[in-house]
Amino acid sequence: MPAENFTVTPYAVEGDVDYDRLRDQFGADRLTHEQKTRFPDPGHPLVRRDVFYAERDIDSFLEAANGGKAHSIVTGRGPSGPMHIGHIFPFYFAKYLQEQTGALVYIPLSDDEKHFVKEKSLDEISDYTRQNLRDLLAVGFDPDRTRIIVDTADADVVYPLAASFAKEVTQSTVDATYGEPENIGLSFYPAVQATHLLLPQLVDGRHPTLVPIAVDQDPHVRVCRDIAAKQRYDVAKPGALLSKFLPSLDGPGKMSTSDDAPSILLSDDRETVVDKIHTYAYSGGQASIEEHRAKGGDPEVDVAYLFLYYFFEESDERIEQLAAAYREGTLLSGELKEVAAERIADFLADHQERRAALGSLEEELSGYRLTEAERQSARRRAGYPDNALSQQ
Ligand code: TRP
Repeated sequence: MPAENFTVTPYAVEGDVDYDRLRDQFGADRLTHEQKTRFPDPGHPLVRRDVFYAERDIDSFLEAANGGKAHSIVTGRGPSGPMHIGHIFPFYFAKYLQEQTGALVYIPLSDDEKHFVKEKSLDEISDYTRQNLRDLLAVGFDPDRTRIIVDTADADVVYPLAASFAKEVTQSTVDATYGEPENIGLSFYPAVQATHLLLPQLVDGRHPTLVPIAVDQDPHVRVCRDIAAKQRYDVAKPGALLSKFLPSLDGPGKMSTSDDAPSILLSDDRETVVDKIHTYAYSGGQASIEEHRAKGGDPEVDVAYLFLYYFFEESDERIEQLAAAYREGTLLSGELKEVAAERIADFLADHQERRAALGSLEEELSGYRLTEAERQSARRRAGYPDNALSQQ
């Protein structure tokens, strides 16, 4: 029996995650109060409320962001299904930083990774890639400061870089970091994700990069930081801002789209959201109204409350009022669910309106793709000659 009764890798999350122990195990640092205060005003609930709870090298990023120097964010998506509300948080967070500090944002889609991991055809993954791209475009990033990369569609830049980085990583590092891979695609994939994390610097030159992601992705960050540390490329090690997992409807500590309870999808309409929350959201309330009025509920385990706390209720005053009323028993479980459902449905209605207003995918994406000069610059910084075929 291992000392921990949970396992967290990019490919599997099992057991009851002890976040502080996991942070220690991974060797990341706690996000301090002082660091939280250096995020641009107004602070973001995900930071203020400790959803992002651990970090690597965030100081140089905050310094550049606050000092008007070049800085970038990389946060990506593995397109293996429709996106649910938990998937979109890092992107809205990246947008908030971009608006506040002018951060460059890189969004890679790892369609290759999802082909290696999931029992899904290339065709299905390609469909999800297109669907997910529409959701990412609906977030409304600034095209002048945002690049979207799809591994198999941007292979002219992803492959040479990944090939260069792959040479720096041994099979035993991969085995020790991720567990023995199921296929050679997964042995190679860490070099691809390292490419994503280093791409802004390879395009634009050395600067601090921050990767805001769920803590299960930290192994990719570690592998990438080791590659960056080799000094063969003039890049700084990317920093990380690591989050806890957002709860799934059937209770905190559980996650994933494949659980029994459904997730709230970005495409759900108001009626569906209300129905899912009322039917499935795990409640911290008591069994009967009388008992609830007498004893009060527990917001800490109540999924409707946690959704509001993590993302959907920005006002600290309002969230504290809700928690207090719930503990006192004056706010009933059904009432709390109603507040959460309305908030989530409002958020989704706005998102869906922006998505519906998009034109063709090709047209919308064109402003976000790497330019020819940017591709060349990245290949050059990774050590490739301008055009291998035209060399004498
Ligand atoms: N591996 C991530 C996932 O499975 C997706 C991803 C690809 C990503 N590249 C990234 C996330 C870079 C953050 C940064 O969800």
